[in-house]
Formats: sequence, structure tokens, C-alpha cells
Amino acid sequence: MKTLVALGFVGFSALSSSITGGGTGWTGATTCVSGSTCTVLNAYYSQCLPSSTTGGTSHTTSSTSHTSSGTSTSSHTSTGTSSSASATSTGKVKFVGVNIAGFDFGCGTDGSDTLTSIYPPLTALGGPDGAGQMQHFVSEGYNIFRLPVGWQYLVNNNLGGALDATNSGKYDQLVQACLATGAYCIIDIHNYARWNGGIIGQGGPTNAQFASLWSNIATKYKSQSKVVFGVMNEPHDVPDINLWAGSVQAAVTAIRQAGATTQMILLPGNNWTSAQTFISNGSGAALLTVTNPDGTTTNLIFDVHKYLDSDNSGTNAECVTDNVSSSWQPLAAWLRSNGRQALNTETGGGNTASCVQYMCSQVAYMKQNSDVILGYVGWAAGAFATSYVLSEVPTRSGSTWTDTLLVSSCMKP
Ligand SMILES: *[C@@H]1O[C@H](CO)[C@@H](O)[C@H](O)[C@H]1NC(C)=O
Ligand SMILES: *[C@@H]1O[C@H](CO)[C@@H](O)[C@H](O)[C@H]1NC(C)=O
Ligand SMILES: *[C@@H]1O[C@H](CO)[C@@H](O)[C@H](O)[C@H]1NC(C)=O
Repeated sequence: MKTLVALGFVGFSALSSSITGGGTGWTGATTCVSGSTCTVLNAYYSQCLPSSTTGGTSHTTSSTSHTSSGTSTSSHTSTGTSSSASATSTGKVKFVGVNIAGFDFGCGTDGSDTLTSIYPPLTALGGPDGAGQMQHFVSEGYNIFRLPVGWQYLVNNNLGGALDATNSGKYDQLVQACLATGAYCIIDIHNYARWNGGIIGQGGPTNAQFASLWSNIATKYKSQSKVVFGVMNEPHDVPDINLWAGSVQAAVTAIRQAGATTQMILLPGNNWTSAQTFISNGSGAALLTVTNPDGTTTNLIFDVHKYLDSDNSGTNAECVTDNVSSSWQPLAAWLRSNGRQALNTETGGGNTASCVQYMCSQVAYMKQNSDVILGYVGWAAGAFATSYVLSEVPTRSGSTWTDTLLVSSCMKP
């Protein structure tokens, strides 16, 4: 998946159009990990995105070999356009939402977190109006937001330590802005099962350090019934899936023991939380063993992601599949036979006709299977530029917000 590594973000205003690795003024790391490619999203934000070719391409600040990702920004107002949805949907999913990104800018797929790259999606913190975006979305019927944030930021680089009052306080402003809309709010630790390269419970942070993070977060939010605990964004290349399930169990136990006994907890599998390989690669079987301290699995929901472009990456403006037969049908059948449910916390596509076609088809399938697929959360709005290839950022004119093509055509409730 490609929603990942913020190589660099710089500056709180769009500056020059000159493209430099990592973005204008970026002073941090400028090399993407193997298998990913530096992709410029705009003058002030670049990301390492998985390469479509094997091997990956490393990238330096002097390189000009960026992928110029789609700048199709076609949009139309959310009123008065006929939806091209395949619209055979008979059901209604419980949750429809959007990722409100920004506190995760700087998070790398190796579990690093460049704190200076964070771009809070809050005007009070000098960023874009994520609070206004959420209010707009809720007025359209949305009822859940995912709020990605890096582990290092919340504890100010102190692994195993307490939440940093300043940083967690800033992030809390976003959580409170979300809760104020009446929606559910997912706290998403955007660390790829890692801290600075080390895998949790498998050579990196201990399960106890990971559990400590979740205990502290749950203590802070235990009285908020609409906070959802997103244990980890997109674990990948985790060698032992059963050990990973043990790390997830440590987080679940910590959350419940901290007093957050009723809220939903999202359990992520390997391979970038791929919906397509959740069962075939063993994530499902391993995560079935995770329980609440009382032995039940109440409100333990599987977390899956799905992009619809040619390489499953979520970096291309065009979509090529709805992946219903490859991903959603087997997953829905498995969930049903195991009496469990999943939430698709990342899906998206370009604002293009092909993505309208396939996204509408995917959404229709989820609605038809809403007994086991609780809903979907689009990637992404928040601090992204409207030119970002997967932008769901609504644009505001006066008191009127205008949605992107994909949102207004398919993703809106
Ligand atoms: C990861 O998932 C993608 C599809 O989402 C699949 O093509 C790939 O083979 C998977 N890798 C593993 C190791 O399961
Ligand atoms: C998951 O995929 C990886 C890479 O292909 C493989 O090594 C591993 O054995 C798979 N695990 C299971 C349980 O299928
Ligand atoms: C699912 O999507 C992947 C790439 O995104 C593609 O390779 C695969 O063929 C698709 N499967 C189906 C059944 O659409």
C-alpha cells in the first residue's frame, strides 16, 4: 500500500514549485526503503511509495526521477450530480468515514517518524481545517474518522514512556474535534508494526513497551465510547504471524485492563493489512486467537485495507478492479463462518472515471455484506493537498464545501 511513508513534508504553505526530494526545505532522510519510490505529491510533501517494479529505487534530494503522480483534480459539487454508482446496493454499512491525515506525515514504512514533518490538520495548529472537513462530512452522513498518528510523536521519542503532554495534547485536539461531530474516532498508530526499523515483539520494541503505549492511550480515552483503538497501521513483512498475534493480544489486554472495556479495537494482519491475503497468508487464523480478558471477542474487529489500482498500491489515479471476487467474497465468507466482522479502514482511488466505476462496485458489495463488513474509511483528507492523487479533501468556498469526484460519486453515505 502506498499511503505510507512520508519522506518529507515541509513548510506550512505551498512554496516553490521546484521539486526537491522530500519537499521544499526538507532536511530529513531522503532515501526510500527498498521497494519504494520517492513520489512527489506536491512541492511540500513527498512520500516513499511502494514501487510497481521489484527492487525499488532509492532516491536522493538531487534526483529528479520522481513519479509525477496524477494531478487529476476533477471535482464537482456534491449536490445535483447523478451518481454513477452501480447502485445495486440493498444494504447500508454501519460506518462510512474518511482518514484525516497529517499527524502521520513523517511516518516511514520502517516505523520511523520524522517529527518535524508532522502537519496537523487543524487550523489552531497552523494546518488545514480538518475539523471543518469532518463537520462537512458528518453533515453528509459520515460517522467515523480515522486519525493517523506516529507512535514516536505521542511519546516524544521515549519508547515505553508516558504520553508526552505537549504532543499528545495536540493530537487530542484532533480527537476532540472529531468527537465533537458525534462521529466515531479511530486512533490509528501509523507505525507498520515497527519502531525505527525494529519489529514489535520480534527484535524491536517489546510487547510490554507496545502494551504500555496502548494502556496510556486507553487510560486517556476510556470514558469516550466513540473512540476506536486502531492497534497498528499496516504491519508488513512481519516474519512470524503468530508472534504478531501475541503482540496484538498484549495491546488488547492493556486497553481493556486500562478500563476501556467496551470500545471497538481494530486487529491488523500482515502484508499491509491486505484484505486480499488476510486469510491466505495466515493473518486471519492467527488473529482469531486474540480475545478480551474475559475470553470473548466482543468488539474485536479485523482491520483490512484495499486499494483498487493495478499494483494494489493506492498510488495510481486509475483503478483496474473492484477486487470483489479476489478479496471481498472470500473474506466475507470467512468472517461469516467465524462469526466475526471487519472494517475497511483504508480504501481509495483517483478522481477518475475508472475509480468511480470500481469504487462504486466495491462499496455496493460492502453494503450487500454489511453483516460482516462494517464499513469503509476513505484515504484521505486532512492535511493532504487537493492535488494529491487520492485526495478526498473537500474544497471550501464561503460556507460551501465541494467534494471530490470519487467522494460524491461513490463514497458518500
Ligand atoms: C500481499 O498482498 C498482495 C495483494 O494485496 C499480494 O499480491 C501479495 O502476494 C501479498 N504478499 C504476501 C506475502 O502475501
Ligand atoms: C505469508 O507469505 C510469506 C511470503 O510469501 C510466506 O513466507 C509465509 O509462509 C506466508 N505465511 C502463511 C501462513 O501462509
Ligand atoms: C485484484 O486486484 C489485483 C490488483 O489490484 C489484480 O492483480 C487482481 O487480478 C484482482 N483480482 C480480481 C479478481 O479482480
